[in-house]
Amino acid sequence: MGCFSFSFFFFICFVFLPTFTFSAPISTHSISPDFTASNFQFIDTSGAFLRSQNGTFKATIDARPSSSKYYFSIVHSATNIIIWSANRDRPMSSSDKLSLTVNGLTVTNQTGQTLWSTPQFNSDISAMQLSETGNLVLVDAGNNTLWESFDHPTDTIVMGQRIPIGKSLQSAVTDEDMSVGDYQLEVTDRDVVLQWNKMNYWKLSRDLKSVRNSNKAVSLMVMNGTGLYLLASDNSTVVHVALNGWSSFRSGKLGPDGRFSIVRPRSDKWELEFAGPFEDCDLPLYCKEVGLCKRKPLGGICSCLPKFSYQNNGDCMPVNRSLSLPSACSAARNGSQLNSSISYLKVGPGMDYFANNFRKPVKNNVTLSVCQDLCSQSGSCLGFFHENSSGSCYLLENHLGSFILTDPSKDRLGYIKVLVGSSHGNSIGSNINQKQNLSVAVLVLLPLTVFLMLIVFVIIAILWLRKKRLSKTEIVKLDRSNSSSSAELEMICIPGLPRRFDYEELAAATENFKTQIGSGGFEMHEQRRYLELADPRLEGRVTSEEVEKLVRIALCCVHEDPALRPSMAHVVGMLEGGLSLGEPRSESLNFLRFYGQRFTEMSRMEGSNELKDLGLYPDMNATSNSAAGVSYNPMSYISSQQLSGPR
Ligand SMILES: *[C@@H]1O[C@H](CO)[C@@H](O)[C@H](O)[C@H]1NC(C)=O
Ligand SMILES: *[C@@H]1O[C@H](CO)[C@@H](O)[C@H](O)[C@H]1NC(C)=O
Ligand SMILES: *[C@@H]1O[C@H](CO)[C@@H](O)[C@H](O)[C@H]1NC(C)=O
Ligand SMILES: *[C@@H]1O[C@H](CO)[C@@H](O)[C@H](O)[C@H]1NC(C)=O
Ligand SMILES: *[C@@H]1O[C@H](CO)[C@@H](O)[C@H](O)[C@H]1NC(C)=O
Ligand SMILES: *[C@@H]1O[C@H](CO)[C@@H](O)[C@H](O)[C@H]1NC(C)=O
Ligand SMILES: *[C@@H]1O[C@H](CO)[C@@H](O)[C@H](O)[C@H]1NC(C)=O
Ligand SMILES: *[C@@H]1O[C@H](CO)[C@@H](O)[C@H](O)[C@H]1NC(C)=O
Ligand SMILES: *[C@@H]1O[C@H](CO)[C@@H](O)[C@H](O)[C@H]1NC(C)=O
Ligand SMILES: *[C@@H]1O[C@H](CO)[C@@H](O)[C@H](O)[C@H]1NC(C)=O
Repeated sequence: MGCFSFSFFFFICFVFLPTFTFSAPISTHSISPDFTASNFQFIDTSGAFLRSQNGTFKATIDARPSSSKYYFSIVHSATNIIIWSANRDRPMSSSDKLSLTVNGLTVTNQTGQTLWSTPQFNSDISAMQLSETGNLVLVDAGNNTLWESFDHPTDTIVMGQRIPIGKSLQSAVTDEDMSVGDYQLEVTDRDVVLQWNKMNYWKLSRDLKSVRNSNKAVSLMVMNGTGLYLLASDNSTVVHVALNGWSSFRSGKLGPDGRFSIVRPRSDKWELEFAGPFEDCDLPLYCKEVGLCKRKPLGGICSCLPKFSYQNNGDCMPVNRSLSLPSACSAARNGSQLNSSISYLKVGPGMDYFANNFRKPVKNNVTLSVCQDLCSQSGSCLGFFHENSSGSCYLLENHLGSFILTDPSKDRLGYIKVLVGSSHGNSIGSNINQKQNLSVAVLVLLPLTVFLMLIVFVIIAILWLRKKRLSKTEIVKLDRSNSSSSAELEMICIPGLPRRFDYEELAAATENFKTQIGSGGFEMHEQRRYLELADPRLEGRVTSEEVEKLVRIALCCVHEDPALRPSMAHVVGMLEGGLSLGEPRSESLNFLRFYGQRFTEMSRMEGSNELKDLGLYPDMNATSNSAAGVSYNPMSYISSQQLSGPR
């Protein structure tokens, strides 16, 4: 078997390896200028080029699976949790470079465009250091700190990090796309608040787990072995949340769903120590816009407000198709003139809007009609709540989130602004749909060039059919309104309801492709049915592990990009068993699909599930929807050089 595998791999590697690549060694604690790094250069260490003294943290240039967005990040080595990223809004490619010069750190792309950089300093940088706490520090010759990553938090706070008043954590869009999302955790002089589009939906001091110790002004937030603390300028505690005790690592992260959660690794599980808000229904968009969230233990049940029903894509839209929510309308106004009158849809009693948990009423002691006028006069008002007993008037500005089903005896009535009118121009619904569907479709499918065209074709076909259907009904309606002088009906448009790309619809559309069974090395790799690849005549003489090893090494040898392929020494090392097996990066194996594969297999690249199944990355996302701990696999991707030294 040894002989067979050697000749096999020499063959494979000679065919596919135009260059033998040796990965650069990883530095410890400190790097001096001038230095450059890219993911390609450090492919053996999955982009890691600097580790802290004891290896607790590492600095990497890496992408999450199924993503071509690379980030210069600080990562907790054992759990692979990203605690900080530099270029979160401008991702790199795997060959874009990070450079350290005496003037600073810069991330540039291949055309030399700066994607991210540190500011100018008065003195020259003598070193970049990564501390055991995960702080990346630039120091000058006198060991003075010029810049540190702890001063520029992204979505995570770790132990030892201080977030001063005025600074905030900003959520990422998704776990793969780290650009700034809609949620913010802000440290104010009284509290820590979570905000969605500038509206508060949670306060630390109101959380059941928090304790207020004093009324002093807050000056910073810190986390240590015993808890999360808001401290005054004299270091006395103002508000604190007790945590479960000592842990070498703990991350407080504002997730893409708007929940701030503190977790620590514990045996092979995550322990969720704190979540704010704890209740799903208290998240602004747990249900979609104008969705209705009903509280239940450890979760929330989504439905639509009365008079609304689910669309195919899960959005809630008015049952009465001649009504229209105004945010869709404002987007539509440009394309077609909308001559509409405002009316209101009653959504109470007992429905609460999340942002009002902490919002003050705009007016007290006013009647319903005064409150309604206030909303009608404001272009940004999308609806209002009126409390009959107190006369309090709350306006919903700019965004409608999910609604929470509250105590029906509350005498608070909600109304959503609706535009009713006639249009002059194109059909609004189909216009918006088409634009957004296409742009998002392009984003999602960009890497899948061929499959993309197929999908786009399918989408366009669907849209075309749908538009045809819509414009038919439109014409009927327009005809009717033109013939009658009354201004009833037609435009359906509710402010606050952007038409979003319906991912579900696309997923449903591609499900057919996914379920087709293909054959070939890569697919087997994903499904871990390695034995099926072995020559049947070898039956009984090879184990699945042996075949898996060969397949994995072979797949590493045939990466599309030469820089991703292991060196000959590594291949031999891996075959001998002395070196750890590399995990083939599936995004670099795309091209394999063109070799005698069925076209439709391309769709497999879409989901990240297969990769998650490989156990490479902890699925942090999974902890966000429930309080239950979720198991994870510590990162097993150890550099082969770390194991055995360079050859
Ligand atoms: C590194 O580990 C050693 C031994 O485990 C320990 O004594 C030392 O304090 C650690 N260094 C840091 C900076 O944590
Ligand atoms: C580099 O970045 C600039 C600006 O973001 C962009 O226009 C250009 O296409 C990028 N070049 C490459 C090779 O990615
Ligand atoms: C800077 O600090 C390091 C340890 O952190 C020390 O080894 C070095 O001597 C210091 N250099 C100067 C110039 O103080
Ligand atoms: C954590 O910080 C708080 C507030 O500064 C302090 O009272 C507490 O003793 C600290 N705990 C540990 C373990 O350092
Ligand atoms: C508060 O604590 C920090 C770090 O622990 C220290 O540097 C600072 O001097 C302290 N401030 C006061 C007023 O005690
Ligand atoms: C739909 O809404 C319009 C405008 O408010 C109203 O005139 C019409 O009666 C409603 N239709 C139904 C079926 O509720
Ligand atoms: C409508 O047009 C205005 C200016 O012409 C522009 O600022 C705005 O972004 C447009 N809105 C939409 C939704 O296209
Ligand atoms: C909108 O409707 C009003 C009356 O309903 C009419 O006076 C006005 O001319 C219309 N505007 C447009 C642009 O059609
Ligand atoms: C509410 O307004 C009415 C008249 O506008 C006034 O008589 C009454 O005192 C007000 N109540 C409160 C509580 O302000
Ligand atoms: C609202 O309050 C007024 C007096 O404050 C009362 O007469 C009226 O019945 C109330 N309306 C409702 C719908 O509760």
